[in-house]
Amino acid sequence: MVTVNTFKENKGKKKMTMLTAYDYITAKNIDDAGIDSILVGDSLGMVMLGYPNTLAVTVDDMIHHGKAVVRGAKNAMVVVDMPFMSYQTSKEDAIKNAGRIVKETGCHAVKLEGAYIEEIKAIVNAGIPVVGHLGLTPQSVNNMGGYKVQGKSADAAKKLIEDCLKLEEAGCFAITLECVPRRIAAYITKKLHISTIGIGASNECDCQVLVWQDMTGYSDGPKAKFVKQFANLYEEEQKAFKQYKKEVESMEYPSTEHTYIMSDEDYREAIKDFE
Ligand code: KIV
Repeated sequence: MVTVNTFKENKGKKKMTMLTAYDYITAKNIDDAGIDSILVGDSLGMVMLGYPNTLAVTVDDMIHHGKAVVRGAKNAMVVVDMPFMSYQTSKEDAIKNAGRIVKETGCHAVKLEGAYIEEIKAIVNAGIPVVGHLGLTPQSVNNMGGYKVQGKSADAAKKLIEDCLKLEEAGCFAITLECVPRRIAAYITKKLHISTIGIGASNECDCQVLVWQDMTGYSDGPKAKFVKQFANLYEEEQKAFKQYKKEVESMEYPSTEHTYIMSDEDYREAIKDFE
C-alpha cells in the first residue's frame, strides 16, 4: 500500500506515478496497473460534469466521486482535491472540509491550490496529509487570465520557489507543480525534501500526474503542450458503439448465444391459458 512514507522513501531515488480518476472502475484499472497514486481532481468539474472550469465543483461532488475511487483502489494512495472556496475562507472551514472529505471518502490525503499556509498547517495539525499545488492553479483561472505557463519571469519564479519552501515548512508531504519551466521545476525538486508532482513541469519532478481522459484520448477540448496521449479509447469506444447500433438494427445482436432458451413443453404450458 502506497503511503506518505513511500513518497519520502522514493524522493530522489525512484520516479512515481499518479493519474486522476473519478469512478470505481477507472480507479480499479489504474490500481491494477500498479500506478502509485490516484488523484480525485476537481478537474472532474470539466471531464465528468461538463462545466467550463473547476469553480462550480462542491465538497459534496468531491465526496461522491472520492468514495467510488477509494472503493476501487487497493494499493494506490488516494488524494482528493479540496474544491474552490472550501478552504480559502478560513482555517476553520479548511479543517472542517478536509475532515469531511477524509471521513466520508476514506481517502488518504487532500490537495489544495495556492499558498494557504495557515490553512495547510491547520489541516496537517489535524492529522491529515496535504499535497500542495502551485504554478498553474486552475481555481484562479479568472485571476491568471487563462491557463498559462507560470513562473517564467525571474520574479514569478522567485515567488514560486518561496511559496514551495513555505508549503514544505507548513507540512505538505508533496507539491504539485503545474505548467512550470523545466529549470525551475528541477531547482525546486532539488531544493525541497518533499516530493514534487509534475504536470507540465518536466521529468525533473519526483512524480508525474495526468488527467486520465487526456492520456487516453477522451478529452474534447484543446490539448495542452504537456499532454501525451498514450491510447485512443475514444476511438475504440466509438467503434464499439457504432457496431452495437448496426448489429441491433440488423438483428445480428442479440444472437442465439446471448439469448435464454425455454423448452417447447414449458412454453406451451406457460401460454395455454391465454390462447
Ligand atoms: O484537478 C486535477 O485534476 C488536478 C491535476 C491537473 C493535477 O489538480
